[in-house]
Amino acid sequence: MARILTVGIATLDIINTVEAYPEEDTEVRACAQKRQRGGNASNTAVVLAQLGHDIAWAGCLADDASAEFILADLASSKVEVIGAHRVTGSCTPTSYVALNKQNGSRTIVHYRDLPEYSVEAFQAIDLSPFDWVHFEGRNIQHTRTMLDSLQRTHPGIQVSVEIEKRRTGIECLCEGAELLLYSRGYVKDGILGSAKEARKAQTRINEDPVEFLFAQHKKQPTAKHCCAWGENGAWGIGQDGEMFYSPALLVEPVIDTLGAGDTFNASMIHSGVTGLDLSASLQASCRLAGKKCRQQGLQGLLQGLQ
Ligand code: ADP
Ligand code: FRU
Repeated sequence: MARILTVGIATLDIINTVEAYPEEDTEVRACAQKRQRGGNASNTAVVLAQLGHDIAWAGCLADDASAEFILADLASSKVEVIGAHRVTGSCTPTSYVALNKQNGSRTIVHYRDLPEYSVEAFQAIDLSPFDWVHFEGRNIQHTRTMLDSLQRTHPGIQVSVEIEKRRTGIECLCEGAELLLYSRGYVKDGILGSAKEARKAQTRINEDPVEFLFAQHKKQPTAKHCCAWGENGAWGIGQDGEMFYSPALLVEPVIDTLGAGDTFNASMIHSGVTGLDLSASLQASCRLAGKKCRQQGLQGLLQGLQ
């Protein structure tokens, strides 16, 4: 068991299950509605707690009823809240999710009006008991400062960073991390960006993340880099430049993909902590993320998993 801190967001997710994804400018009735705690770092924390670790989450919280709901859910999921920054008079970031009953796809409209987590709040945390700290790649300059401060004061702590969205300057968060977790959206946006250049030069564009991961490895050879690719599984490259692939678990029917990536990330961190090799890590993580897609929410993910 390791002591792990995740730093990032906690949200209220209002999930409307719909028979089919709606056409624009139509009215449809949801067949079910559920309120859940969400947010990448807090979802990853909840899954890591199920994997048997001693988990804490740090981030910004509003002071409304939804924040109390989030705190109660984290407590019942055995996630400690540490160094949280409460903002008075603010409202909890909320995701309005349309969950398509036919294929489990989730479409998210996210509203946020809460300050980002501050360097001061992070630096007030006693990091000495932690073995691993995981960051969401957001609030770039401040997160870079947190990484620098962590690496300066506690060089023995392992670090992972989720690189999910093409936020300006986000690449600077890759430096010094042991594990980098890229999203399919991040890689695809990059491919689209470079496609214009490539068309000019008449070169071939690879639609899978292999070339992207080779390029990232060249830039940061001391890290493991991986990328989840939805129903197509996941790729990863190790420090020695060897590429690995795992197919996704076959899921039929797909119930709910919300938080599949956060589950995958938790399992990759768990694998890193327990010293699993990269190939086995990708396989275990696709298995757990696939198990998540078979059910709604994140509770009881390990039940019935072979
Ligand atoms: P995100 O939630 O960030 O969009 P992905 O869609 O890339 O994340 O999925 C993360 C992982 O979840 C994938 O690598 C895969 O293992 C699993 N997964 C996602 N969608 C499916 C699916 N339809 N069937 C089986 N596994 C899936
Ligand atoms: C799923 C998720 C949701 C949340 C959204 C925030 O990955 O963490 O729980 O509402 O993403 O971007």
